[in-house]
Amino acid sequence: MCGIVGYIGENDATPILLRALKRLEYRGYDSAGLVVIGDGLSYYKDKGMIDSLMQTLPKISGKVGLGHTRWATHGKPSKENAHPFLDCKGKIALIHNGIIENHMELRKQLIEEGHKFTSETDTEAMVHLIEKHYNGDIEKAVRESLKQVHGSYAIAVIHADEKDKIIAARNESPLVIGIGGGENFIASDVAALLDYTNEVAYVMDNEIVKLTKQGFEITTIKGESVSRTTETVNWTVEDAEKGGYEHYMLKEIFEQPNAIHDSLLGRIPDLTLNGFLDGNFNTIKIIACGTSYHAGLIGKYVFESFSKVPVVVEMGSEYRYSEPVYENTLVVLITQSGETADTLAAAKEAKRRGSMTIAITNVVGSSITREVDYTFYTRAGPEIGVAATKTFTTQLVALYILGITLGLIKRTLEYDRIRELTSTLRKLSRYVQSVLDDTEHIENCALTMKNATDVFYIGRNINYPTALEGALKFKEISYIHAEGYPAGELKHGPLALLTPRTPVVAIAPKDHTYEKMLGNISEVSARGSPVIAIGYQEDTELEKVADHVIYVPEVPALFSPIPITVVVQLLAYYVARDRKCSIDKPRHLAKSVTVE
Ligand code: F6R
Repeated sequence: MCGIVGYIGENDATPILLRALKRLEYRGYDSAGLVVIGDGLSYYKDKGMIDSLMQTLPKISGKVGLGHTRWATHGKPSKENAHPFLDCKGKIALIHNGIIENHMELRKQLIEEGHKFTSETDTEAMVHLIEKHYNGDIEKAVRESLKQVHGSYAIAVIHADEKDKIIAARNESPLVIGIGGGENFIASDVAALLDYTNEVAYVMDNEIVKLTKQGFEITTIKGESVSRTTETVNWTVEDAEKGGYEHYMLKEIFEQPNAIHDSLLGRIPDLTLNGFLDGNFNTIKIIACGTSYHAGLIGKYVFESFSKVPVVVEMGSEYRYSEPVYENTLVVLITQSGETADTLAAAKEAKRRGSMTIAITNVVGSSITREVDYTFYTRAGPEIGVAATKTFTTQLVALYILGITLGLIKRTLEYDRIRELTSTLRKLSRYVQSVLDDTEHIENCALTMKNATDVFYIGRNINYPTALEGALKFKEISYIHAEGYPAGELKHGPLALLTPRTPVVAIAPKDHTYEKMLGNISEVSARGSPVIAIGYQEDTELEKVADHVIYVPEVPALFSPIPITVVVQLLAYYVARDRKCSIDKPRHLAKSVTVE
């Protein structure tokens, strides 16, 4: 996720772009840059946040310009990888938010044709492609180029010799036009515009915008003209940064369909890992902390099912002190921030023990990436809420992709099975969206939990870790004590704590443990505890044993933690909101835990 902004008008573009970028910083903050048309193109970009860009920026001015704040997905945060990107002649400048799926083949072809690349990004291929198609009309060149591009993008492009326009386009990444008097704007979202205008027009997928200082014209990529009405927004800047949501956490929960979709783009299986890793390992160790540890526990079921290699999951804080009894171990470290001290220490220890190491992280260039042999990036975009949400579900996506890849390496997955798994993975973001489309019932169920002092989450098999994650999310933001248990364990002790004031969230998709789960739910009900069950749509049995049922779309059991996690995130969120807790910054907690 990155922030893009463009300005065209009668004023100096530089201070306007900088102010707008500041408003977009929550979308990405590892590097930033801007470009204006003055006497030719003048641009400046660097690693770091907008404040540091402001301090080092030389004087560049012009009345048309583009600005970008980056959250790296391809290539580490660096001056070279920061936007804007310019073509070889230095005439065309482009900024981009999204992921270009076919960038490798475009890059290869363009290099063969003589274009010189200066970065590791997916974006740069687009500016060279536009250069290739340029024949005196930048709009036409962008249109021709986009016909060859696959993936998600919001782009804005300028040409030094066509000072009267900015060309922008969108597919699956947000883009909005801001309408001022004699000046106009284009941006990733309205937060960037509100200091200047609240009249906006939204750009839709596969549309191209020609923005001039007098107005805008929208056409489809095919060239058909589109009419679009403008809207007035009444948000404050803070509302806009949160996309109109009350908290970042809620916004990030709702961003999960996109985050899952982006994390899958172009990599089932992960061909780079397939080429990199030999099959010379007989155990897999997954190491992580907190929510990432729960992802690791789910990963155990996935890896064992797909690759038939035994998996051990350990907490980062424990691994260093364990006996090095396993040989030929592949170590997978999961950390959304890439900076968790316990996980970093574990990565060093794993190397010392001679293991091949893989990291799954959301932050390009973070410390863990320097400790391991191979990094797989989730593409969740920045997560501002301390409680991990979209980074967790995208970690699961990463584990499914790696699991399939390990299955290929170990030759334990048939071609038909891979096709089936791939097809389910591609549908996941739609399933998550359907949970998010109807949250009222989840909100009502949460009401039954808000005055409890203890809550239990139970699940079996792959949803035992989902129960742990539900309980962690619940306790960390609502400050109500919660525990996750394998459902079969309740009768070995915790049942003693159940009373009519102890709600139990029972995760019960129709898998091979379902009948047992029904029995466990009945045991809980018999103690008078209210039961909120989470099950598959069309399951009429659950209503007979539970007080409330929340339905999710039916998915193959191994994938069920994804839609179910969204439900437990929302239960935690609604309870915390009703209790007026500090949701985005829970007490005593930090987003990245850099001490052991
Ligand atoms: C809980 C949460 C934490 C983190 C843990 C590890 O919502 O976010 O439990 O999961 O501190 O952090 P990373 O994944 O950055 O290593």
